[in-house]
Amino acid sequence: MILSDGSAELLHGGDLTYASAVFGEPDEPWQDLSTGISPWGYRAVNIPSDIWRDLPGSNRPLCEAAAEYYQTQPEFVVPLPGSQFAISHMPRLLAPATVALPAIGYAEHAKAWQQAGHRVVFYDCIAGLQSLAEQGALHSAVVINPNNPTAEVCPLTTIELLHGSLPGMVVVDEAFIDTLTLPSAVSLLPRCPRLCVLRSVGKFFGLAGIRLGFLLSSGDLPERMLQVLGPWAVSHPAQWMGERALKDKAWQLAHKLRLRDAQQQLQKILQQVARDRFTLANGGLFFTLRGSWKPLMVLHQTLAESGIYTRWCYWPEPNEAGGTPPAWLRIGLPADGGVRMAQALKTITFSE
Ligand SMILES: Cc1ncc(COP(=O)(O)O)c(C=O)c1O
Repeated sequence: MILSDGSAELLHGGDLTYASAVFGEPDEPWQDLSTGISPWGYRAVNIPSDIWRDLPGSNRPLCEAAAEYYQTQPEFVVPLPGSQFAISHMPRLLAPATVALPAIGYAEHAKAWQQAGHRVVFYDCIAGLQSLAEQGALHSAVVINPNNPTAEVCPLTTIELLHGSLPGMVVVDEAFIDTLTLPSAVSLLPRCPRLCVLRSVGKFFGLAGIRLGFLLSSGDLPERMLQVLGPWAVSHPAQWMGERALKDKAWQLAHKLRLRDAQQQLQKILQQVARDRFTLANGGLFFTLRGSWKPLMVLHQTLAESGIYTRWCYWPEPNEAGGTPPAWLRIGLPADGGVRMAQALKTITFSE
């Protein structure tokens, strides 16, 4: 929001309750494009009543389905109640040391490493991470691949080099990788025991509500994470639904095509808006516009006033990597092909 003194209110997120409080209740229900979760979710009909009633038994069938989907072996797979569980708890399993994290990235990582007593240093881009590693300044590193929200990607060769040069963990958060052709770091697991890959069932499968994700590692981390998880950490309905979603190759293929169409439609609209005003990056399930905060805020506000909620972030203070990160606006894929958005943007003007 632009405040009456012309300055920007710090906004970095908020849910639809927040959106309604700031912008008022829209005429039509909110179109929530603030998350990057697929607008279409996997639906297996009729979860049997015993799945609701009984405690989950062995999670072996789920691990096998995940191992096949992620192309690895079941022994490397730990099911989690969302990959967020590992993000929150893994740093506490490691002795405090220096860890590198992206300066612009899913903020829960930095929060958890800091709370667990690690010294966090931020990097601006993958080249910056590589130079920190070459200087011997790091013990561990976190790479979000593709990064949310910048959509920057890190090649597998760089991940393997990092693993070779750092004494600690290399954590690769692949929550948004499923729709991209980017190769997964999972293939490196057999030869990289200090590599940990995080995968989410929430984003691509549109199943964020069931809370299901995976930690994959060939080292001793799976055993230690299982101790923290305790029994029945992933609910029986989540295991049941997750196993079916991971095995349903026909649905996955059709879903990828549908998402590709939605991506192309949204990209067309956003390219018109971006022109030479903003940069536009494709994160698969979202696009991110970056540039000056004022026109980005106008865009966020214009969309919100038409009931379309996007994720806007602006930090006026310099970050620890030394620079002031430009503002960004992240927009998830709309299920209507962008019809409502195109209508909302018809009269937008940026007074630069
Ligand atoms: C980059 C990234 N990783 C992980 C997560 C956590 O996802 P989940 O716990 O639903 O698997 C999120 C959630 O937004 C995210 O943006």
